[in-house]
Amino acid sequence: MHTTLLFIHSILRWVIVLAGIWAVLRAWKGVSNKTPFTASDNKAGLFYMIFLDVQLLVGLVLYFATSVLTKAALSDMGAAMKTPELRFWSVEHLTMAIIAIVLAHVGRSKVKKAGTDAQKHKKGLVFYGLSFLVVVLLVVMVIGKGRGWLPSLS
Ligand code: HEM
Repeated sequence: MHTTLLFIHSILRWVIVLAGIWAVLRAWKGVSNKTPFTASDNKAGLFYMIFLDVQLLVGLVLYFATSVLTKAALSDMGAAMKTPELRFWSVEHLTMAIIAIVLAHVGRSKVKKAGTDAQKHKKGLVFYGLSFLVVVLLVVMVIGKGRGWLPSLS
């Protein structure tokens, strides 16, 4: 169960990165070329947010049910804070992911509420852009922690 979930979680990071690039590029194109806000622009932000939400769900199961790392951390948070590996998975990884997810949700709501097409593109660029930066940093940090670019099949 843990291996399967970690595999899905690991692959989903790249789906999120691709969806993020798509959402940010569409918003950027909309701002710079002053194009109308189309159904494709709407879908780009929606898919980025949905993939982040699915990652959150898988992450929550890893975090509270299957990961021995977070189990160890949650059993003694005081000690975990002094252990870089445990602190990373129990606090830093989670906090960064939540920030990215919240920014994507706020962005989607701001895009929906914006009065003009230009404002929709601008809100998308700012919020999806910030969220995407956090995602990139998170992915780089996970790889820096010695996890592979792709899930291990062993
Ligand atoms: C932007 C969203 C996220 C991304 C891109 C992401 C990415 C990753 C990656 C790449 C790994 C390493 C996978 C591997 O070893 O192959 C990982 C591990 C992990 N993630 Fe996430 N994650 C995200 C959100 C979350 C959230 C929201 C939670 C918790 C609620 C979470 C909990 C975990 C845990 C507990 C592990 C380590 C499991 C273990 O090795 O025991 N992740 N994540």
